[in-house]
Amino acid sequence: MQTDQRDSFGSRFGVIAAAAGSAIGLGNIWRFPYVLGENGGGIFLLIYLILVAMVGIPVMLSEFTIGRSARRNPYGSFRKLAPGKPWYLVGLVGIAAAFMILAFYTVVAGWTLEYLYQAIANGFSGKSSTDINQMFDTFRAGTFRPILWFLIFMLMTSWIVISGIRKGIEKYTKVLMPFLFILILILDIRAITLPGAGEGLKFLFKPDISKISAETILEALGQGFFSLSIGMGTLITYGSYIGNRERLGNTALNVTLADTLIAILAGVAIFPAVFAFHIPPGEGTGLVFKTLPLIFQEMTGGYVFAILFFLLLSIAALTSTISVLEVIVAFFSEELNISRKAATILASLTVGLLGVLAAGSWGWFSQFHILKQSVFGILDFTTANILLPLGGFFIVIFVGWFMGTQKVQMELSNGGSLKAGYLPVFVFLVRYVAPLAIALVFMNGLGWI
Ligand code: PHE
Repeated sequence: MQTDQRDSFGSRFGVIAAAAGSAIGLGNIWRFPYVLGENGGGIFLLIYLILVAMVGIPVMLSEFTIGRSARRNPYGSFRKLAPGKPWYLVGLVGIAAAFMILAFYTVVAGWTLEYLYQAIANGFSGKSSTDINQMFDTFRAGTFRPILWFLIFMLMTSWIVISGIRKGIEKYTKVLMPFLFILILILDIRAITLPGAGEGLKFLFKPDISKISAETILEALGQGFFSLSIGMGTLITYGSYIGNRERLGNTALNVTLADTLIAILAGVAIFPAVFAFHIPPGEGTGLVFKTLPLIFQEMTGGYVFAILFFLLLSIAALTSTISVLEVIVAFFSEELNISRKAATILASLTVGLLGVLAAGSWGWFSQFHILKQSVFGILDFTTANILLPLGGFFIVIFVGWFMGTQKVQMELSNGGSLKAGYLPVFVFLVRYVAPLAIALVFMNGLGWI
């Protein structure tokens, strides 16, 4: 175990910004609309919101609690809080999930760089909806470009992680997230004033109970975990850098609200346009990339907005990829006792190999399938819908039943100096509601009950 001074976040806003930076990203703007589109629209949103409140917030707060009280990476945290017990396995699975998420997520982040490039080169102008559709499919089926952008994004991520927590992560997230928010609002206004926008809003907000299925519920749970960055120890790791005087409950609530708001606003930008331009809502992983350029075409100043948007989206993705890489780096550097730099290089090389396969899922590696899914599909599905909920289940069980109420209370009340009146509710949620909900959704979704 290392005893040296650990890095920490410099300010309260820095903590929220970094955690929100991790949570807000492609999960909200790319994944949320595509999964919602495939899973019945409004009914998905409703279930999503219920699960975020009942399960998401408790898991997030549990991660902060574990991380700040142990001040270690996820594996080390469980080793420290439950010595000699197998809980550290939860940390290890989380670290495996981090590798997998980083590999496919950075591929999508690479697509945003391609689209930033296209925006600058004015590549969307004058193209019909069919052209835009084809442009994306052709790009993604190529070999060189998807891999190149993926590698560039991976390098940027590694560079920031090597430069350290406070100087690196905090500096970037603090300033940029508010800008992204404003830009999405502007897109929303344009989208809801498109002819035929009403259909899209109805699809997003009007639940159609007949479209509910076990899989929809599992997808909503998985999306909640993915979007909030929970279930694999990202927020245990970030929690371990949070100062003793920060309010963990408040932070968890603020981050969840911000993340959820951005996802909904992204939906409000996308679905009216999806219906206005007759794109199938169940289009899948290309949905956002096939829709957004069409909105920009319809905007005064669309050229500039497109550039700003893809730039900020890449940055939002970057603040998420650094949080995922940070999990692996904290683990390697603390447990193998290697330098931050060596840890980052080791992790990036491994993820790099896996990502090159994932990036090829529509191109050079498209023949390869496991259980009828591409490498990309497997990584996306398995992490969000299986590994994260599983991790979340054990995290709340640990905090609810094994960590000791006394210790949890001390952590959430900052050693007794805060009232933290929500504590009884939190304890009830982590002990009963969240684990039961996860277990039911999970078993139901996989067809076990
Ligand atoms: N929550 C991030 C997003 O929505 C992705 C992520 C998942 C980050 C898991 C960390 C851990 O973009």
